[in-house]
Amino acid sequence: VQIEIPETLAPLFEPRRYKVLYGGRGGGKSENIARALLVMGMQKPIRVLCAREFQNSITESVHQTLAGVIRLYELEAFYEIQASTIKGINGTEFVFKGIKHNYTSLKSYQGVDICWIEEAANVSKASWDVIVPTIRKEGSEIWISFNPNLEDDETYQRFVVSPPPDSWVLKVNWDANPWFPDVLKAEKDHLKAKDPQAYKNVWEGHCKQSVDGAIFANEIAKAIEEHRITRVPVKEGIPVHTFWDLGHSDKTAIWFVQLIGLEYRLLDYYEASGEKMPHYIKVLADRAYQYGEHCLPHDADNEQLAANATIRQQLQNAIKDNPALGKVVRVVPRIPKKALGIDAARSIFDQCLFDKDKTAAGLQCLRRYAYARDDQSGKISKEPRHDVWSHGSDAFLCFAQHFKRPQHTEYKSIMIS
Ligand SMILES: Nc1ncnc2c1ncn2[C@@H]1O[C@H](COP(=O)(O)OP(=O)(O)O)[C@@H](O)[C@H]1O
Ligand SMILES: [Mg+2]
Repeated sequence: VQIEIPETLAPLFEPRRYKVLYGGRGGGKSENIARALLVMGMQKPIRVLCAREFQNSITESVHQTLAGVIRLYELEAFYEIQASTIKGINGTEFVFKGIKHNYTSLKSYQGVDICWIEEAANVSKASWDVIVPTIRKEGSEIWISFNPNLEDDETYQRFVVSPPPDSWVLKVNWDANPWFPDVLKAEKDHLKAKDPQAYKNVWEGHCKQSVDGAIFANEIAKAIEEHRITRVPVKEGIPVHTFWDLGHSDKTAIWFVQLIGLEYRLLDYYEASGEKMPHYIKVLADRAYQYGEHCLPHDADNEQLAANATIRQQLQNAIKDNPALGKVVRVVPRIPKKALGIDAARSIFDQCLFDKDKTAAGLQCLRRYAYARDDQSGKISKEPRHDVWSHGSDAFLCFAQHFKRPQHTEYKSIMIS
C-alpha cells in the first residue's frame, strides 16, 4: 500500500526527540500523525503511547483516527483493532491513556518508543513533568499536536516559544492541507464572516487573549489594545501596597500596586502554595519596596497558615519588628457576593497598567478567571470556577474592593506607628 501524507510532514520520519505540530483546525495534524505512526509500526515493532490530558473513555482518544486509517487502507490483516488497543502482527502496539489522574500508572510506560500527545494545549506543567521523564527509552520520541489556546499556556511556552533541543516544530493550518475537505472550508468561511476574532484562533492557530467565557475577557482585550500590559517601572517615593488572597494547600497570591494619579500600576505579583506566613514576609522583605498598606482578605483574622497567631497578627508583628516592611495592615471586609467584587474589578480595570514580566503569573490567572460550568448540564454557574487560577484573581478582587469599597461598611484597620 501507498499511504499519502503531505511532503511538508516528511520530517515525522526522521529521528527527533520532540515533534511538534500546532495550528488551526483542519491542518491535517491528527490524520497525518496517525498515518505516519501506522507506517512506522509496520516497518518495525514499536510501542506507541497515545496520551492526552484527560481521557474518560476510549472514544475521546485517537483510537478512532488510527482505526479509520487502518480501514481506509485495508490494513486489517496487519493491525488488529481491539476495544482499547491496536496491535500489529509484528508486535507493534498502540495504547491509550489519560495523563492527569494517572501519574502513578504512567510510570509503567517506560518502554514506549513514541508517545503521541494529542490536544496537548491544555496539558499542565505537572503532567509534562511526569510524562517527559517517563519516555526515557534510548531513541524514544515525544510527538505533540494541538490547537493553541493561550500564549502563556505551559505547552505553548515549552514547545513553541522556547522548544527543547532536538525539536522539530511546525505550524500547520488548513492551507497546508492538500486534502482540506469542503465541509470544513464551509465552516471556516462561516466563522470568518461571523466572528473574525474566534476565526483567528480556531482556523489560523493564533493564541487567544483569554479563555472562552473569561470573566475579564473584554477588560483584558482592552488592556492589550491600549498597551497597558507593558513595562511598568517602580516610581520612587510612592508607597507600594499589597493585596492578598490566602491559602495553605491552595495558593496564596499577592499583587503589588502603586497608585499614581488615577492610574493603578500593577508592578509585581507573587504566588506560592504550601508555605507559611514567614515565607511571605520574606518575599516582602526581599522585594524591598517602600511599602504602604497590606490589604488582606477577611479570612486573615481566623486563617492561621499553621501558626499560633492569625495572618493579620503575624504580618503586624513583622512590621513592628521591621518598619521597612510597611505601615498598615488592613482586612478588607467580607462582601456578600463575589459578583460585587467582580463589578469592583471591572470598574477599575481600565485604569490598570500591568508589568508584562513581573505580573505575568497574575495575568495568567486573570485571563483564565471564568464562571464554573456544569459538565453534565452545560449550565454556567453564577460562581467563578475555583481552580489554580482563581486565587490570583481573588487577590485582584481584594485590590479592587479596597479602592472601590462600598459605603458604610465597617473597615477594620490597625495603624502602626
Ligand atoms: N493525508 C491525508 N490524506 C487524505 N485526507 C487528509 C490527509 N490529511 C488530512 N486529510 C483530511 O483533512 C481533514 C482534517 O485533518 P485533521 O487531521 O483532522 O486536521 P487537524 O488535526 O489539524 O485539525 C481530515 O479529516 C481529512 O479529511
Ligand atoms: Mg486534530
